[in-house]
Amino acid sequence: MALNTITPQVLAYKPPHPKLEEFVPARDRALFADPTKAALLAEASAIEEVTPYIGTELKGIQLSKLTDAQKDELALLVAERGVVFLRDQDITLDQQHQLASYYGKQDRDPHQENPNHVTIIGRDGNIRQHDHFGGEFHADHSFEVNPPSYTLLRMVKTPPSGGDTVFTSLSALFDKLSPRFQKALEGLHARHSADRSYLSSLNGGGHPLRAPIATAHPLIRTHPVTGLKILAYNPTFIDRIQELNGQESSHILAFLREHLLNADDLGVRWKWTPGAVAFWDNRSVVHKALPGGYDVTLREGKRTAIFGERPFFDPDKSESLSQRTERLNAGKKDTATHVSSEPELNN
Ligand SMILES: [Fe+2]
Repeated sequence: MALNTITPQVLAYKPPHPKLEEFVPARDRALFADPTKAALLAEASAIEEVTPYIGTELKGIQLSKLTDAQKDELALLVAERGVVFLRDQDITLDQQHQLASYYGKQDRDPHQENPNHVTIIGRDGNIRQHDHFGGEFHADHSFEVNPPSYTLLRMVKTPPSGGDTVFTSLSALFDKLSPRFQKALEGLHARHSADRSYLSSLNGGGHPLRAPIATAHPLIRTHPVTGLKILAYNPTFIDRIQELNGQESSHILAFLREHLLNADDLGVRWKWTPGAVAFWDNRSVVHKALPGGYDVTLREGKRTAIFGERPFFDPDKSESLSQRTERLNAGKKDTATHVSSEPELNN
């Protein structure tokens, strides 16, 4: 049976929880951080940029021992680098839940049994088959009115190989579009629908907590901390672009999928080890776990996340990655000119 089918079980099912109401989250903790991140970085034995566009690995740091100032700086690093990796963490599940709570209101996925965390397991199957769900890039349950922001996955056990996760930067993905095309996409809204995940879960024996919803979010989104423009494309949940006609929408979405799948230069592939953590920003990064080829019982992780702000686009207060680089370089040139002219002034 196709998992996307509306069956008698689907029609008879009554989700136990009501729909979520929109809320305004507390001020993002990254906005409280010292921009130099001195307290956090002083603690690290090494800070490695895994790729130029996304991913920083912090070594010598235990998440279980962070001060509040360091937690704020970690949020800023996650917002700036998309994902931060750490290995060999001793943090317990309770401490992980407390850490998530420090950043905001605990997120709850519609398929999440324990209110404090999601258990992530191994995944088999062929992602190329019809109705395969969950093997595609996505930001987690982006159909919510307040989709998740800071998200932490700690792997408890991992197979010797297989089950890697790939993360791709959506601010870099926006930046690599031509300025003309960027302009054409700004102001559009994408509809993020829970229908497929709901059907796939129910027909696969799951019990989703909430009825499926669909929410329109800006296709180009402003990051509230970095001010960067984000191409909020999500091939798992977006089913249309609201302002376009049907065929226009399908072709633009097909192009965006190709753009994302070609973006090896803007992504990072993380190989898990037991106790390793990826702490990412679901607002500015998409990810996918690579399924198949390993014993799925050997992979298990715990995910905690918080609900973020309702996505917004503020064209006057956001810029692309290239615009930001240009602005910062212009600032540096001014300083350099000033410094080099000093000896002449002294003469
Ligand atoms: Fe996910």
